[in-house]
Amino acid sequence: MSDTPHVQIVTPDNLSEDQARGELARLALLLGAANIAYHREDTPEISDADYDAAKRRNAAIEARFPDLKLADSASDQVGAPAKDGFSKVSHAVRMLSLSNAFEDEDVAGFEAQVRKFLGAPGKILFTAEPKIDGLSLSLRYENGVLVQAATRGDGEVGENVTANARTIADIPQQISGAPEVLEVRGEVYMSHADFAALNTRQAARGGKEFANPRNAAAGSLRQLDAEITRARPLKFFAYAWGELSTPLADTQMGAMNRLTGFGFAVNPLTKLCQGRDELISHYRNIEVQRASLGYDIDGVVYKVDNLELQHRLGFRSTTPRWAIAHKFPAELAWTRLNAIDIQVGRTGALSPVARLDPVTVGGVVVSNATLHNEDYIAGRDGKGDEIRGGKDIRVGDWVQVYRAGDVIPKIADVDLSKRPAEAVPFVFPQGCPQCQSATLREEGDSVRRCTGGMICPAQVVERLKHFVSRGAFDIDGLGAKQVEAFYKDDILPVREPADIFNLRARDLALLEQLKNRAAGDGALISGRLKTRDGWGEKSAASLFNAIDEKRSIPLHRVIFALGIRHVGDNSSALLASHYVSWTAFEAAMSTASLNEGAAWEDLMSIDGVGAVMATSVIMAFQQDGERAMIDRLIAQLQVQDAEQRDTEGSPVAGKVVVFTGTLEKMTRAEAKARAESLGAKVAGSVSRKTDILVAGPGAGSKAKKAADLGVETLDEDGWLALIEGL
Ligand code: IVH
Repeated sequence: MSDTPHVQIVTPDNLSEDQARGELARLALLLGAANIAYHREDTPEISDADYDAAKRRNAAIEARFPDLKLADSASDQVGAPAKDGFSKVSHAVRMLSLSNAFEDEDVAGFEAQVRKFLGAPGKILFTAEPKIDGLSLSLRYENGVLVQAATRGDGEVGENVTANARTIADIPQQISGAPEVLEVRGEVYMSHADFAALNTRQAARGGKEFANPRNAAAGSLRQLDAEITRARPLKFFAYAWGELSTPLADTQMGAMNRLTGFGFAVNPLTKLCQGRDELISHYRNIEVQRASLGYDIDGVVYKVDNLELQHRLGFRSTTPRWAIAHKFPAELAWTRLNAIDIQVGRTGALSPVARLDPVTVGGVVVSNATLHNEDYIAGRDGKGDEIRGGKDIRVGDWVQVYRAGDVIPKIADVDLSKRPAEAVPFVFPQGCPQCQSATLREEGDSVRRCTGGMICPAQVVERLKHFVSRGAFDIDGLGAKQVEAFYKDDILPVREPADIFNLRARDLALLEQLKNRAAGDGALISGRLKTRDGWGEKSAASLFNAIDEKRSIPLHRVIFALGIRHVGDNSSALLASHYVSWTAFEAAMSTASLNEGAAWEDLMSIDGVGAVMATSVIMAFQQDGERAMIDRLIAQLQVQDAEQRDTEGSPVAGKVVVFTGTLEKMTRAEAKARAESLGAKVAGSVSRKTDILVAGPGAGSKAKKAADLGVETLDEDGWLALIEGL
């Protein structure tokens, strides 16, 4: 019984406005803590009578000073939010992102790629519609009733925001005539007018103002108290779907019309176009209307209209082949460059960062921008050709900043007429600014790198930050800030990923040490996490639990988390789905030779893996220090095998397939993508490991080798018959 309310001498009737404000704040804290203790932790800290008295007093003060009532007043709350915020929802069908086009040529490239993938498809129609700048939401209806709403999250697991979504007027609670299972996907956004009004209200009550409508929409949807969401004017446009028990239509446009029929808002600027010229002309048309739409859009999305073709085109690891986002040009602003700092990244790259006088670019305040590398600062590109007309960038310069989408702001130009007389060319450091090791710029690489490896504290910390980042281990409560603090900690240091997983054990061991001290010994400073600044019993326990939750983790996340150069999240997904298990992946990487042998060939047969990446992965597994760190980590984990999608009942799952000769009903790219989506591994050459050779007309040595090895050989029709209906 710690925080019991103070004896209440001043009755609500005698309070001044200032006293009332203070008293409401105190009661909010007290009731909030009591609520959490009671409902969430099941450990009430104050008696029911004291709790009721505090709640009555809160209500009485609010009744006298209605203007002082807090947005999240305890009077309006029942219970407390779930323990870890929102519960998690696994998406039945992954929520993907879109690849981007910036120039007209990229749109032509997209159309050409689609055509090439499909072979000679004849006329192809596309839909073109605004790309809404909000946050995506997936709504699940079962038998016409909204049963779940989830944010995108990492695409596989999102947050359950059902209660919040139910408060949005554009989202029907019930629909008739829908498939038994229907997942509608779209964007939650806030109009300009509603955004301005919300910020005015927030300012008036001293609340947080939002930087732009998208942040306001995200902040409003993700409220643990759905009543706050209700008070925020959110809107929703539908543009896609997830799981369906029966198809909605044969075309994208048809599917959108069905969604309109169910009561969803579909963007009225959605248009059917044929080919790049019509797409680009609709893009220009939308661009002209952009300022008067009343809500933010950041480009135009093109989608292949025919759903059969969409199905054939399928997906790369995180984006569909049948759609692209054509982004609007970046927004620009001029400001002063005050300093150039050099950051050292996890692969040792020295990255210059411009420190700027803060300036608003497209609704976001920017105070840092990337300067890429030393050539970029000097006014040259990777090939040594001039950029910006050869103008270099100096501290003190007046520079033009731009940002496109979520990417880090960049510097486009320098105004030489405003260059201060004392500005001097920037001298790029030749030693690592963090560990003073020598730096090296490899032939053909524009980046200078620190050679310090694991002795460079910056590289170690950056690798750890990467390890806990969103696409990697994503441990709740262990972000960049905490990682930095643990790295510096002398009592509970985290210097490599494995250290994270024995943090709880080391923390507990401190207790044992303490017990073993002589009675009356010293000040009993334990060093345990819960006693640290910013930590307490609960937050320390939550961190240890969050770490334990990630001991069992999908293979692709582990590969990505290792932070191997050239291996990003896409490549990690490719490697994981190819090798399926950690054991297989580790065995292959440990034994592979560079540039030769079966393991090398097998690695290189993965679509999207080239020699540079292959070398980098193999090297990581074959360098002693690096390898020992990986082993120490893996010893603490249960790595989950890669999920093989769509392969249930597939006769080719796990089989190694080789295509050769001319295929007549599909392109090689399509054949490969389809086989992989059915769980097969597509290899480039025939070996003893090959299970099936698909040989079209003109097949030569591969067919012969297959025959010699006794490998099953099918023609194209035989292959199609085998996978038919899948
Ligand atoms: S289609 C399979 N259409 O943009 C991909 N996305 O950058 C389905 N977005 O995650 C997405 N407007 O949140 C699609 N008209 C639109 C969109 C749109 C906004 C968002 C969506 C997606 C992101 C990708």
